[in-house]
Amino acid sequence: MAFELPPLPYAYDALEPYIDTQTMQLHHDKHHAAYVNNLNAALQNSAELASLSVEDVVRRLSEVPESARTAVRNNGGGHVNHSMFWQIMKPNGGGEPTGELASAIQQTFGSFDTFKAQFNDAGVKRFGSGWTWLVIDQSGKLAVMSTANQDSPLMDGLYPVMGNDVWDHAYYLKYQNRRPDYLNAWWNVVNWDEVARRYSQGRTGS
Ligand SMILES: [Fe+2]
Repeated sequence: MAFELPPLPYAYDALEPYIDTQTMQLHHDKHHAAYVNNLNAALQNSAELASLSVEDVVRRLSEVPESARTAVRNNGGGHVNHSMFWQIMKPNGGGEPTGELASAIQQTFGSFDTFKAQFNDAGVKRFGSGWTWLVIDQSGKLAVMSTANQDSPLMDGLYPVMGNDVWDHAYYLKYQNRRPDYLNAWWNVVNWDEVARRYSQGRTGS
């Protein structure tokens, strides 16, 4: 069973005005689709790895034959990161988290606003292409970090609770070089129910 491009869970224009329609079309139908196709090509001679979830593939990069490892890292990372990304956004999103996630953010960062500032700052400072993340670290605590290219926190044994894509392809048509403006606007489309679900899943290891 080959990896498949998951459908976008809302219309291309659903995240307007924060993320424009054309960016969503290209980002999902071209960029994410290319990661899926390239991942399938890279694993075409690795049937056992190709039968795993994409999360497990990127957790087990060291088992990928060396000749395919860079392609799997880039494209498996691209597939798992974008599959999360579409789900943690929604139209009429935004606001603030509630429940255990809100408490954990408060406890770790002092306030929701401090967390947001650290998350945005990690995104602004990521040189070139990459992602900014809220992760559960190996001691079970929340942390903000960023990764280069399509690297996933899963590759380092960390659990990605939420992440924002700071590749130019995520924002350049609307925001051009103004990455900080994109990072600020993005909070208006966050799907906190899905982020909370991921936090719970990451803590229980399921
Ligand atoms: Fe992307």
